[in-house]
Amino acid sequence: MGRIFSGIQSTGNIHLGNYLGAIRNWVNLQNAHENFFCIVDLHSLTTLPAPGDMRRWTREVAAAYIAAGIDPDTSTIFVQSAVPAHSELAWIFSCLTPLGWLNRMTQFKEKAGKHRDNAYLGLYAYPVLMAADILLYKTTLVPVGEDQKQHLELARDIAGAFNRQYGVDYFTLPDPLILKVAARVMSLRDGTAKMSKSDPSDYSRIHIMDDADTIALKIRKAKTDSGAIAGAAQEMEGRPEALNLLGIYAALSDLSLEDVCRQFEGAEFSALKTQLTEKLIAVLIPIRDKMVSLLKDPDSLDALLNKGAERASALAAHNMREIKEIIGCVTL
Ligand code: TYM
Repeated sequence: MGRIFSGIQSTGNIHLGNYLGAIRNWVNLQNAHENFFCIVDLHSLTTLPAPGDMRRWTREVAAAYIAAGIDPDTSTIFVQSAVPAHSELAWIFSCLTPLGWLNRMTQFKEKAGKHRDNAYLGLYAYPVLMAADILLYKTTLVPVGEDQKQHLELARDIAGAFNRQYGVDYFTLPDPLILKVAARVMSLRDGTAKMSKSDPSDYSRIHIMDDADTIALKIRKAKTDSGAIAGAAQEMEGRPEALNLLGIYAALSDLSLEDVCRQFEGAEFSALKTQLTEKLIAVLIPIRDKMVSLLKDPDSLDALLNKGAERASALAAHNMREIKEIIGCVTL
């Protein structure tokens, strides 16, 4: 049995990419592993959310985990900031992480844009905190979407740097788990851009809280091309929007992209869109309904998160004591 850690930021707009690339896989994995599913609110601070939004979005992510099928009795669901050891270990790791490693992070480059000097330290150090999240629990497996691959590699490098620096074999190197289907769900408006919470257009993504009419409208408006669907994925190359819709359909139906191309061979996109809308509604609306009901009772949700934080804190405190011992802190 391995130990899983993964998380989602509490930045609002939780979407189909987060569901297919992450949460759904966690649900499928949860019974075979020991799990820590975190709401990484400290990471979302890099976008400076208003305090009220941050509180609302934190609970919204927690509700999404549970509504999608994470069992809070067997999996530990908790808020990152409730376990201070994450920040403590991030500092220790920042003393072992060369700037050159951080300079290579493509997500920082994309987010900082041209005005690098104006970007905040938190955004730059973001992957170090992420490494701390993962390694604090001596995690073995990290199920994420493809966009997190580079951050995972950095976490492995940091684990190696710690072990080397202190001459120990303390941290095991965590393995990323990135599934083939839906590892990178693309924008509904531009098949070359990732579906993301920060895209200014609501029509670029399906929110996990969208109602059935909104889902139908967004799929109707989704960009396609004028060709018919080819019988093989290979023949669809250069048609990113079309491939994206086929990929989403494949993920929701537990089919391969090849199977879906064969199923829709020669069809117009309107036929795919109708069936895709039905699938999305069948999968997402029950999750939305459950989320709405969970969010009506924030006290119960908070109690659940507190219980999760207690469980996570116990392991975090134990490991932190060992880590401090290794690095020479005089722990009392
Ligand atoms: P975040 O909040 O951006 O995304 C959460 C998860 O959703 C996946 N994802 C996608 N998958 C497929 N297609 C997409 N368009 C798409 N967009 C997002 C992400 O890959 C991720 O798995 N840095 C992380 C949060 C984090 C974390 C961690 C994850 C902090 N600490 C430790 C794992 C382990 C992030 O920003 O995720």
